[in-house]
Amino acid sequence: MEHKRKVVYTLVLLLTLSLQAMGNHMKITKAVVPAAGLGTRFLPYTKAIPKEMLPILEKPSIQLIVEEGIASGITEFDIIANADKPELEHHFSHNERLETILEDKGKLDLIESINTIIDTVQFNFIPQPEPLGLGHAVLQAKNAIGDEYFGIFLPDEIMIGDVPALAQLIAVAEKYNASVIGVLEVPHEKVSSYGIVAIKEELEDGVFEIDHLVEKPKLDQAPSNYALAGRYVLSPRIFASLENTKPGAGNEIQLTDGISNMMHNGERVIAYVMKTNRYDVGTPLGWIQANIEVAMHHPKFGPVVKELCEKLLRYSYKL
Ligand code: G1P
Repeated sequence: MEHKRKVVYTLVLLLTLSLQAMGNHMKITKAVVPAAGLGTRFLPYTKAIPKEMLPILEKPSIQLIVEEGIASGITEFDIIANADKPELEHHFSHNERLETILEDKGKLDLIESINTIIDTVQFNFIPQPEPLGLGHAVLQAKNAIGDEYFGIFLPDEIMIGDVPALAQLIAVAEKYNASVIGVLEVPHEKVSSYGIVAIKEELEDGVFEIDHLVEKPKLDQAPSNYALAGRYVLSPRIFASLENTKPGAGNEIQLTDGISNMMHNGERVIAYVMKTNRYDVGTPLGWIQANIEVAMHHPKFGPVVKELCEKLLRYSYKL
């Protein structure tokens, strides 16, 4: 009797594991972070310092991106950066001299958050030889990604919410077995700054079948105000599409156009409205807003910052 029960248990276990394996074939563990941009919207600060190193409180903004990735299950980050930005590689490598000094002072905890990241996940730094556009930047990760679905983070876009934005996309990608682009509604007068989605059909709340995509349309030609907002889960088929994508808006090889081509070749791409607060930290205004929200959530600084904001609004600035 005991033996029979063991056999039944084993069979149930095997069946469960194989069903899980079938359902989980889209395991997403790699992400591309294109970080080769010039940061022109944040000059003169970005003249000598990469925009990805702008601080959000005590962390550079790119560390927040990596933390969102890790919280979404990413274990390999392929960072596309040009040779002018060695700071990114320095930040994601151990600094033995600093560690020795901090250890002697009993203050290693000050770099614990970054050292844990360095010890937990892998970073590849891949150069983009020429600044030919976002699609071209992503294409540089072709060999690193290989034949797997993967995530993309545009590091200007900082997302703050209960569930990491990329994890939300991954859940939709697994459910529909498709590529997913994260979208957010933007004011109509801003559509020409974004990739915009033309919606075919709403599949469920905030999940859309796409008709087509258009990069930076004129206001009167925009099919909606749902903008691509810096998070993607894409099929590796994107690389073949990008190789055949001609320069588009701004005479650059656009990721949006590569995704459109991939759709024409039969890949299903779904748009998902991310549940998140979003800040464009590539601009001074978005950067200060992100800092205020992060500071307000901070266990130590939160109460002080809230009090300061209230005080400034009440007394200092009579608008
Ligand atoms: C890029 C993408 C665009 C997207 C935007 C989001 O544009 O090309 O589709 O909507 O990021 O931030 P960029 O801002 O690099 O011109």
